[in-house]
Amino acid sequence: MEADPKLRAETARRRTFAIISHPDAGKTTLTEKLLLHGGAIHLAGAVKARGAQRHVTSDWMELERQRGISVTSSVLQFEHQGHRINLLDTPGHQDFSEDTYRTLAAADAAVMLIDSAKGVEAQTRKLFQVCRRRGIPIFTFVNKMDRLGREPFDNLHEVEEVLGIRTCPITWPIGQGPDFKGVFTLFTAGWQRRKNPPEQIRDDVELLEHAGDPFDREKILKGELSPAFFGSAMTEVGVDEFLESFVRLAPPPGPRSRTDGEKVMPEEPRFSGFVFKIQANMDPAHRDRLAFLRVCSGHFTRGMDARLPREEKPIRLSMPHQLFGADRHVIEEAWPGDVIGLFDTGMLRIGDTLAEGQPFEFAELPRFSPEIFARVRAKDALKRKQFEKGLEQLSQEGAIQIFHQRGGGMRDPILGAVGALQFEVLQYRLEHEYGAQLVLERLPYQVARWVTGADFNPDRFEQEVDAQCVEDRDANPIALFKSEWNLNYAMGRHPAWMWSPTAPVVPLSKRR
Ligand code: G4P
Repeated sequence: MEADPKLRAETARRRTFAIISHPDAGKTTLTEKLLLHGGAIHLAGAVKARGAQRHVTSDWMELERQRGISVTSSVLQFEHQGHRINLLDTPGHQDFSEDTYRTLAAADAAVMLIDSAKGVEAQTRKLFQVCRRRGIPIFTFVNKMDRLGREPFDNLHEVEEVLGIRTCPITWPIGQGPDFKGVFTLFTAGWQRRKNPPEQIRDDVELLEHAGDPFDREKILKGELSPAFFGSAMTEVGVDEFLESFVRLAPPPGPRSRTDGEKVMPEEPRFSGFVFKIQANMDPAHRDRLAFLRVCSGHFTRGMDARLPREEKPIRLSMPHQLFGADRHVIEEAWPGDVIGLFDTGMLRIGDTLAEGQPFEFAELPRFSPEIFARVRAKDALKRKQFEKGLEQLSQEGAIQIFHQRGGGMRDPILGAVGALQFEVLQYRLEHEYGAQLVLERLPYQVARWVTGADFNPDRFEQEVDAQCVEDRDANPIALFKSEWNLNYAMGRHPAWMWSPTAPVVPLSKRR
């Protein structure tokens, strides 16, 4: 079918990206400046407030403030030169990498922000690998050029050496530190090299022309060549030049894969999208959950019906929100590349696909195997209700998984997470958002495997090897092991069984 011209045009003008960086590289500052330059339409509440502007809008932002970390992801939308830009904010702390992975799954490009004095730092490296795996274009922005840092060539060299990606500078700094005078854009509108660079950088430019990687759009789009920019977010130098080239080089929303191997093109008329994040209690005054959905195809309109594969009946999407945080805003429509916030009463899960027509599932979200475990109970037995509700709702956000001990609902649940900070955040949020204190007892397990085998019997298995068998929320059996060695031993004894590090895709009819 011919694509609707409006759908095609709206898709083509969208750019959806995330910034990845090590804490303190200047992500918050750059985000603010991008919004200013783009004349932000919507400023989400979760841009980390700094200095005098700092104001706390929710308990869990209070936690962020205390620890100086950004726990939330928010979505910011602004216009620039006819482009609609969606900036997905990624949490900075490493224990939140799961969240970051999912956010990157919803992005079509990434901007890697580097502190010019520090170069490639640990967190940058980790996040870079995620982008690399996704094959999305990665832009480099070397920040803090107003300070004395390393030579521009040294930073690019480090990116190439440490991260193993070639770079192609698009802008070049004129001076550095107190002498930083701005940036020179090395290319014309048609991506030809510009002649007559300022005297001060003539030698650098000559060197780049002879020894640098040539501009290659194909390689950029495949994530094999990183266009590099320089600037100072704080003094707002180089930010305009970056945005201008970024919107021309970054790709519009592209095709997305389904679990059945088919691809969904963004210009397909029927609406589809997937939930990449769920956030409970965005605003303590509202006590609600928002599911963040990335639109992958078609035209979303308020009040439309969409199918969730495991539900018999279509769901009416009647209260989509575009503005997250304290000041919300109901939207009427959205296009591929956009992110909408859907009010959710507990029906939606991370990874869920919503689509018009025949249901299907996107295969876009990576899933994670928990590596640390704890048994938990409410400190005050009278608060058990709040405790259970909080646990249930917070686990739906995806940072922790609840496992049930076999043999009865009254036994304390076991939680699994990828990082210890997730337990801390859970503890804090349970107390502040649900009024329930948590007693948490760390368990010695390090590896989890979802087990399937015709003759698998959890009681027998526990006697046979050093493992504990629990169940996930869909009653799938999982074995928890104290080490890889124990797992390997068990696998050796039962080579015919399946040992999956993540939950199996539950047949839709069988999900709880
Ligand atoms: P993050 O979100 O990546 O963690 O970094 P953030 O923007 O909060 O910036 C970290 C620090 O670096 C801040 O200083 C910020 O002002 C500073 N910064 C950001 N971009 C630039 C830049 O281009 N040049 C210079 N010189 N500094 C920059 P702070 O002292 O921690 O906070 P504040 O008191 O300045 O707000």
